[in-house]
Amino acid sequence: MTSQDVRKQFLDFFASKGHLIVPSAPIVLKDDPTLMFNNSGMAQFKEYFLGNATPKSNRIADTQKCLRVSGKHNDLEDVGFDTYHHTMFEMLGNWSFGDYFKKEAINWAWELLTEVYKIPKENLYVSVFEGNKEENVPFDQEAWDIWKELIDEDRIILGNKKDNFWEMGDQGPCGPCSEIHVDLRSEEEKLQVSGKSLVNNDHPQVVEIWNNVFMEFNRKADGSLEKLPAKHVDTGMGFERLCMALQGKTSNYDTDVFTPLIERVEQITGLKYTSNEVLNISEEQNKTNIAIRVVVDHVRAVAFAIADGQLPSNTGAGYVIRRILRRAIRYGFTFLNTKEPFINQLVPVLANQMGEFFPEIKLQQQLVTNVIREEEASFLRTLDQGLQLLENVVAETKGKTVSGTKAFELYDTFGFPIDLTALILREKGFELDEAGFNAAMQEQKNRSRAASEVSTEDWSVLIPGNVETFVGYDQTESDVKITRIRKVDSKKDGILYQIVVDNTPFYPEGGGQVGDKGTLVSANETIEIIDTKKENNLILHFAKKLPENVNAGFVAKVNQDLRSLSSRNHSATHLMHQALRSILGTHVEQKGSLVNPNYLRFDFSHFAKMTESELQQVEDFVNARIQEQLPLIERRNIPFAQAVEEGAMALFGEKYGDEVRAIKFGESMELCGGIHVKNTAEIWHFKIVSEGAVAAGIRRIEAITSDAVKAHYASYENTLNEVKIALKNPQDILKAVHSMQEENAKLAKQIEALVKDKVKNLKESLISEIQEINGIRFLAKQVDLNPEGAKDLAYELGNLGNNVFLVLATADEEKPMLTCYISKELVADKNLNAGQVVRELGKFIQGGGGGQPFFATAGGKNVAGIQEALEKAIEYIK
Ligand code: SER
Repeated sequence: MTSQDVRKQFLDFFASKGHLIVPSAPIVLKDDPTLMFNNSGMAQFKEYFLGNATPKSNRIADTQKCLRVSGKHNDLEDVGFDTYHHTMFEMLGNWSFGDYFKKEAINWAWELLTEVYKIPKENLYVSVFEGNKEENVPFDQEAWDIWKELIDEDRIILGNKKDNFWEMGDQGPCGPCSEIHVDLRSEEEKLQVSGKSLVNNDHPQVVEIWNNVFMEFNRKADGSLEKLPAKHVDTGMGFERLCMALQGKTSNYDTDVFTPLIERVEQITGLKYTSNEVLNISEEQNKTNIAIRVVVDHVRAVAFAIADGQLPSNTGAGYVIRRILRRAIRYGFTFLNTKEPFINQLVPVLANQMGEFFPEIKLQQQLVTNVIREEEASFLRTLDQGLQLLENVVAETKGKTVSGTKAFELYDTFGFPIDLTALILREKGFELDEAGFNAAMQEQKNRSRAASEVSTEDWSVLIPGNVETFVGYDQTESDVKITRIRKVDSKKDGILYQIVVDNTPFYPEGGGQVGDKGTLVSANETIEIIDTKKENNLILHFAKKLPENVNAGFVAKVNQDLRSLSSRNHSATHLMHQALRSILGTHVEQKGSLVNPNYLRFDFSHFAKMTESELQQVEDFVNARIQEQLPLIERRNIPFAQAVEEGAMALFGEKYGDEVRAIKFGESMELCGGIHVKNTAEIWHFKIVSEGAVAAGIRRIEAITSDAVKAHYASYENTLNEVKIALKNPQDILKAVHSMQEENAKLAKQIEALVKDKVKNLKESLISEIQEINGIRFLAKQVDLNPEGAKDLAYELGNLGNNVFLVLATADEEKPMLTCYISKELVADKNLNAGQVVRELGKFIQGGGGGQPFFATAGGKNVAGIQEALEKAIEYIK
């Protein structure tokens, strides 16, 4: 059975049991501060369990792209070493929202596995929650009794809180669970050791395939459990493990989910992967296998994250993706001997395999390939630099142990992986001070943890069961009651209160547009709202203090000036998006956007720098739409399919409901929840202020509209006036600047000639000062020259013979500089290196530098240190 069939049969089975089949949510989560990535099928349904939103069906099933690489569920470091953990995996799941419970869930799971997929019953074990006194949750008798009807009792295992009580994160919906494990060992092995004893014992062929969670509780911030308003079912089956079981394999990597990728790696590297059936492989082959598993696993996670709109970057989710890719690059570099980008070449294979079910990967194949290729190239350069730096560290090391702090510097500044450092050191006969490294690492972790610490209290609910409505498309003011309040204490922002009201006009940050600011006003007081954000389905108003009387009636007032400026930038963003697609082509896809009162920023896929003329055309296009005074045509609650059919732009990685809002200005039509102008004339004027690259194949434009354009031109005019005054009000400024440039060039030539003369004179007078120490003709001296002059002088003096060693210091324009010259013969005979000399001496002038072994320079900040540097130079020679 192919993996495609396995997936299809699962969905067909649950459709036949009355489930609505929905698409996978994007991997990267938005609007949920507790979770960065979807780490389970249920994450997108969290609000249904909590009762904050209503699902469109009480029974849903799907396959969800999951990533377990951060937070509570993190498998990253295991991947590659075993045959059944992954960074990205598909989770097949069925859900009941307050509908069926344990009986149906368990019976259907059993029916699907044993009758549809025909897994032999004697290969299956199940587990049931044993109960936990501290949590006050009893043994799951109900699940036990249901299982007893289906399977021999001695195949039912009791499990503790760690294995049989499922929680998504530190907070949120949770409950006891019942897992199904499969034993894939040979008959012979089964006779020797019972499968039961291997369940939950990290045996690679006795693995969990399906988890049935019976959601009954919510874990609160204070750690306690509260009962959920209704009982739900959340199940998750590991798709790749299921394929392993159904395809008669003993490793996920031997299934058709991975074999096409592995074959491509074999082609590229010329190495061979051995399947799990091959026994007694060499240590060398084992390393190759691990590295290939790392690469074919990681490329999936990275490719799908990029396709869902998450580019690798230096912060947050982007950084996690970058680290996964770097782990793969590094395994390739060390164990597959790949010194050139190659992982990107796996993207077409992946797109071919998965594109039918997940079209986002097929449609963005080129972009994903380019982004990965560029990341690879840049990290390989880093590895190269790191290797050189490591050479230096080794050269400076006295003894055989390399300092952990130095290794940490390499890791921290250059992303140079510590295990690679250790490996290289071992090859060179050195050891790494691991304790020192760990200490430095811990220190940094403590620092960043302290900086990002947030403590969130539980909600205090003032009006229970209230569902908040957003009225901000039609109003900027409304009468409200506060429904719930929560206190959040973070190192970054201090103490803030999050306030939820019943019908808010405040737009919460989203779709790139920043959240509204404004006030909550009651008869007696005014509370400043400094920001508005969404958390799942709640709109949170942020305030520095709470009202004295939280039960009073308030008028919620949005700051209209700020909102109006943002709305102009938002509408201009749509027009610019349209302009880019019409001028550059329809390969342009939005890849990120920011809209605030001051400016707009827009990232999009395009493979070349935009020319001046293209930028001009985009500006002209948008300004023409502004002049046309196009009215806003806003349609709310139209079916998603209809909107797309009519030509509305939908974005990859965005989760749309069945009903959407469409924003139209003339021919521009986008699905969008943001705030817009009523007529494009309000934008007044549009001006691009910068264009540049963010990543391979991703460009960024920053632009301004309305008041900011006026300010922009006013500031230009100001500068121009100041230039005029500085030039003493010439009639023609441009002419005045040109003649100044000519004058400058003339002066520079004269100075050059003068310096040449000075060098000649200095040379004559310095010859007598050269000392001979240990057969080396040596001079360390400060000279009154500019850096160019010092270089000429060094070469002139260097011509005196083949045993010259010079350190010249200058302080031209108060900038200290050291120039070191060593005759090539000395470099070779005495193993000297001018680069190292200036790096050492550079410390005295608070600077650094480098160059070649026979000539190098270092610039610094501390003129007063020159004397000491020169004295040290003499000492060194002696
Ligand atoms: N949430 C459970 C899990 O991830 C079942 O879907 O294992």
